[in-house]
Amino acid sequence: MTQSNTQLNTKINYGVDAPGVIRNLFIAAITLIVLILIFPVIKIGSVNIDTTGFIWSAGGMALGGFLMLGYSLSGKYKHRDRMLNLINWTGDEQVLDIGTGKGLLMIGAAKRLTTGKSTGIDIWNAEDLTGNNVEAALKNSVAEGVADKVEVLNENAMNMSFADDTFDAIFTNMCLHNIYDKEGRKTACAEIKRVLKPGGTAVIADFRNMKEYKASFEEIGMQTTLLPANYLTTFPAAGILIVKK
Ligand SMILES: C[S@@+](CC[C@H](N)C(=O)[O-])C[C@H]1O[C@@H](n2cnc3c(N)ncnc32)[C@H](O)[C@@H]1O
Repeated sequence: MTQSNTQLNTKINYGVDAPGVIRNLFIAAITLIVLILIFPVIKIGSVNIDTTGFIWSAGGMALGGFLMLGYSLSGKYKHRDRMLNLINWTGDEQVLDIGTGKGLLMIGAAKRLTTGKSTGIDIWNAEDLTGNNVEAALKNSVAEGVADKVEVLNENAMNMSFADDTFDAIFTNMCLHNIYDKEGRKTACAEIKRVLKPGGTAVIADFRNMKEYKASFEEIGMQTTLLPANYLTTFPAAGILIVKK
């Protein structure tokens, strides 16, 4: 599915990741605080339970929610740049962003291109990102002034329609963990290898399964380097895997 890049309004918005998780953390924290305030002690038979100790759990959950919000509102832009800086750009690259959402990596890459093209694919799961849809990615590309350098397609990471050896650089950020079975994630890694040009680089970032992705790529003959998770910019902290074909 490709859509016209014209007649779209121009407000940039890359969304909040995992909004349901953030909401649940805040709801749980508030529920615990209300419980503590209303029932500081719960009496069950002869046992008195002092609920005030739950304040630590409430604080931990609220902190988790705030850190996740912080990633979406600020940290992810530094994280995006860290990923993009791993490529020696010439400007003529063919780039793929898998699970582009509202176009964060696709658009960031497009800004580094002259004659090249940046393609974003996604299946637009609503629960993974607020306002997640193809129009939002296209709107952002217009607002960022790179609409002529991007293409947005509805495709699944596990079954891409691109020919073998199509892309010089492939990015995927906080996407592959959303494939819930290991075989599916392995298939996505094999697809990344297939569509990456010989000599090309894939940059994979995620907050879990990083060692699994590394093993999957090595099993199919790719060279890998795993960079440590950055706790200052990402939450949950995301590692970055560099994969060379
Ligand atoms: C947490 S969002 C991250 C979006 C974007 N990469 C970013 O950093 O802002 C994860 C994205 O992966 C997409 N996704 C999940 N499973 C996918 C799959 N099998 N194929 C393609 N995209 C997928 C979701 O729809 C969602 O847009």
